Amino acid sequence: MKLLSFALFAVGFYSLLSRLYDTWLPTNFIYDKKVLQDIVQDVLVNHPDGNATNIMIELVPKIKEKYPSITNDLNFDEWVYNNAGGAMGTMYILHASISEYLILFGTAIGTEGHTGVHFADDYFTILTGYQSAAFPGALSPEMYLPGDQHHLERGQVKQYSMPSGGFALELAQGWIPAMLPFGFMDTITSTMDFYTFYLTSYYTGRDMIKNLLRGKF
Ligand SMILES: *[C@@H]1O[C@H](CO)[C@@H](O)[C@H](O)[C@H]1NC(C)=O
Repeated sequence: MKLLSFALFAVGFYSLLSRLYDTWLPTNFIYDKKVLQDIVQDVLVNHPDGNATNIMIELVPKIKEKYPSITNDLNFDEWVYNNAGGAMGTMYILHASISEYLILFGTAIGTEGHTGVHFADDYFTILTGYQSAAFPGALSPEMYLPGDQHHLERGQVKQYSMPSGGFALELAQGWIPAMLPFGFMDTITSTMDFYTFYLTSYYTGRDMIKNLLRGKF
C-alpha cells in the first residue's frame, strides 16, 4: 500500500512538473537561444584563428550587454571540472537559476560520453573545435562546427564527443534542479573529487539564490 501511494505520488508529481514545463515554466526564461547564437556568430567572425581564450573574452561582455543583471563576468579562476555520463570537461557558470543555466563548457584534452537524460531543452553553440553526436541507430555522427547550435530536446539521449580544444556556450532551459544529480553522480560513485563538488555546488547555489532573491526563478 505504501509503495502504491508513493508510486501514485511520483506519477502525479512528474505530471505536474511536465504540465508546468509546457505552460508556466517558459514564462521565466530570459535568454533566447537565437540571440545567443547570433552573438556567437558575430564574435567568431573576428577570430578566424579560433583562439578560445580570445573568443570568450569578447563573447562574455557581449552576452552581458544583452542580458546585464543576470550574466556573470568571466573569471578564469572560477572554472570547475565537470564529470558526468563518463565524459569529463571544464565549465564556467555564466548564469544559474531554477529554470535556466548558461555555461561555457569544453575541454583542452578531448572527451566522449553520454549526454544524460534531462528535464530540459539544451542548446549547445560551438565556439571552437566541434561536437559530434549520435542516436543509438546512427552509424555516422551528427557534426556541429563553430557557430552551429546543437539542440538536444528534453528527454533525448545521445552519445557525444568533443576533440581537444573544443569549447561551447551551453544554454539549458527547463527544470534545472532535476539536472543536478547527473552532474554530481560521477563524483559520488567514481572521482571522489569532493573539492570540485563543493566548488560546483557553491557557484551554482550562489547564483541560484542571488537570482531567486531578485525574483528570477
Ligand atoms: C590565445 O590568445 C591568448 C591571449 O589572449 C594567448 O595567450 C594564447 O597563447 C593564444 N593561444 C594560442 C593557441 O595561440
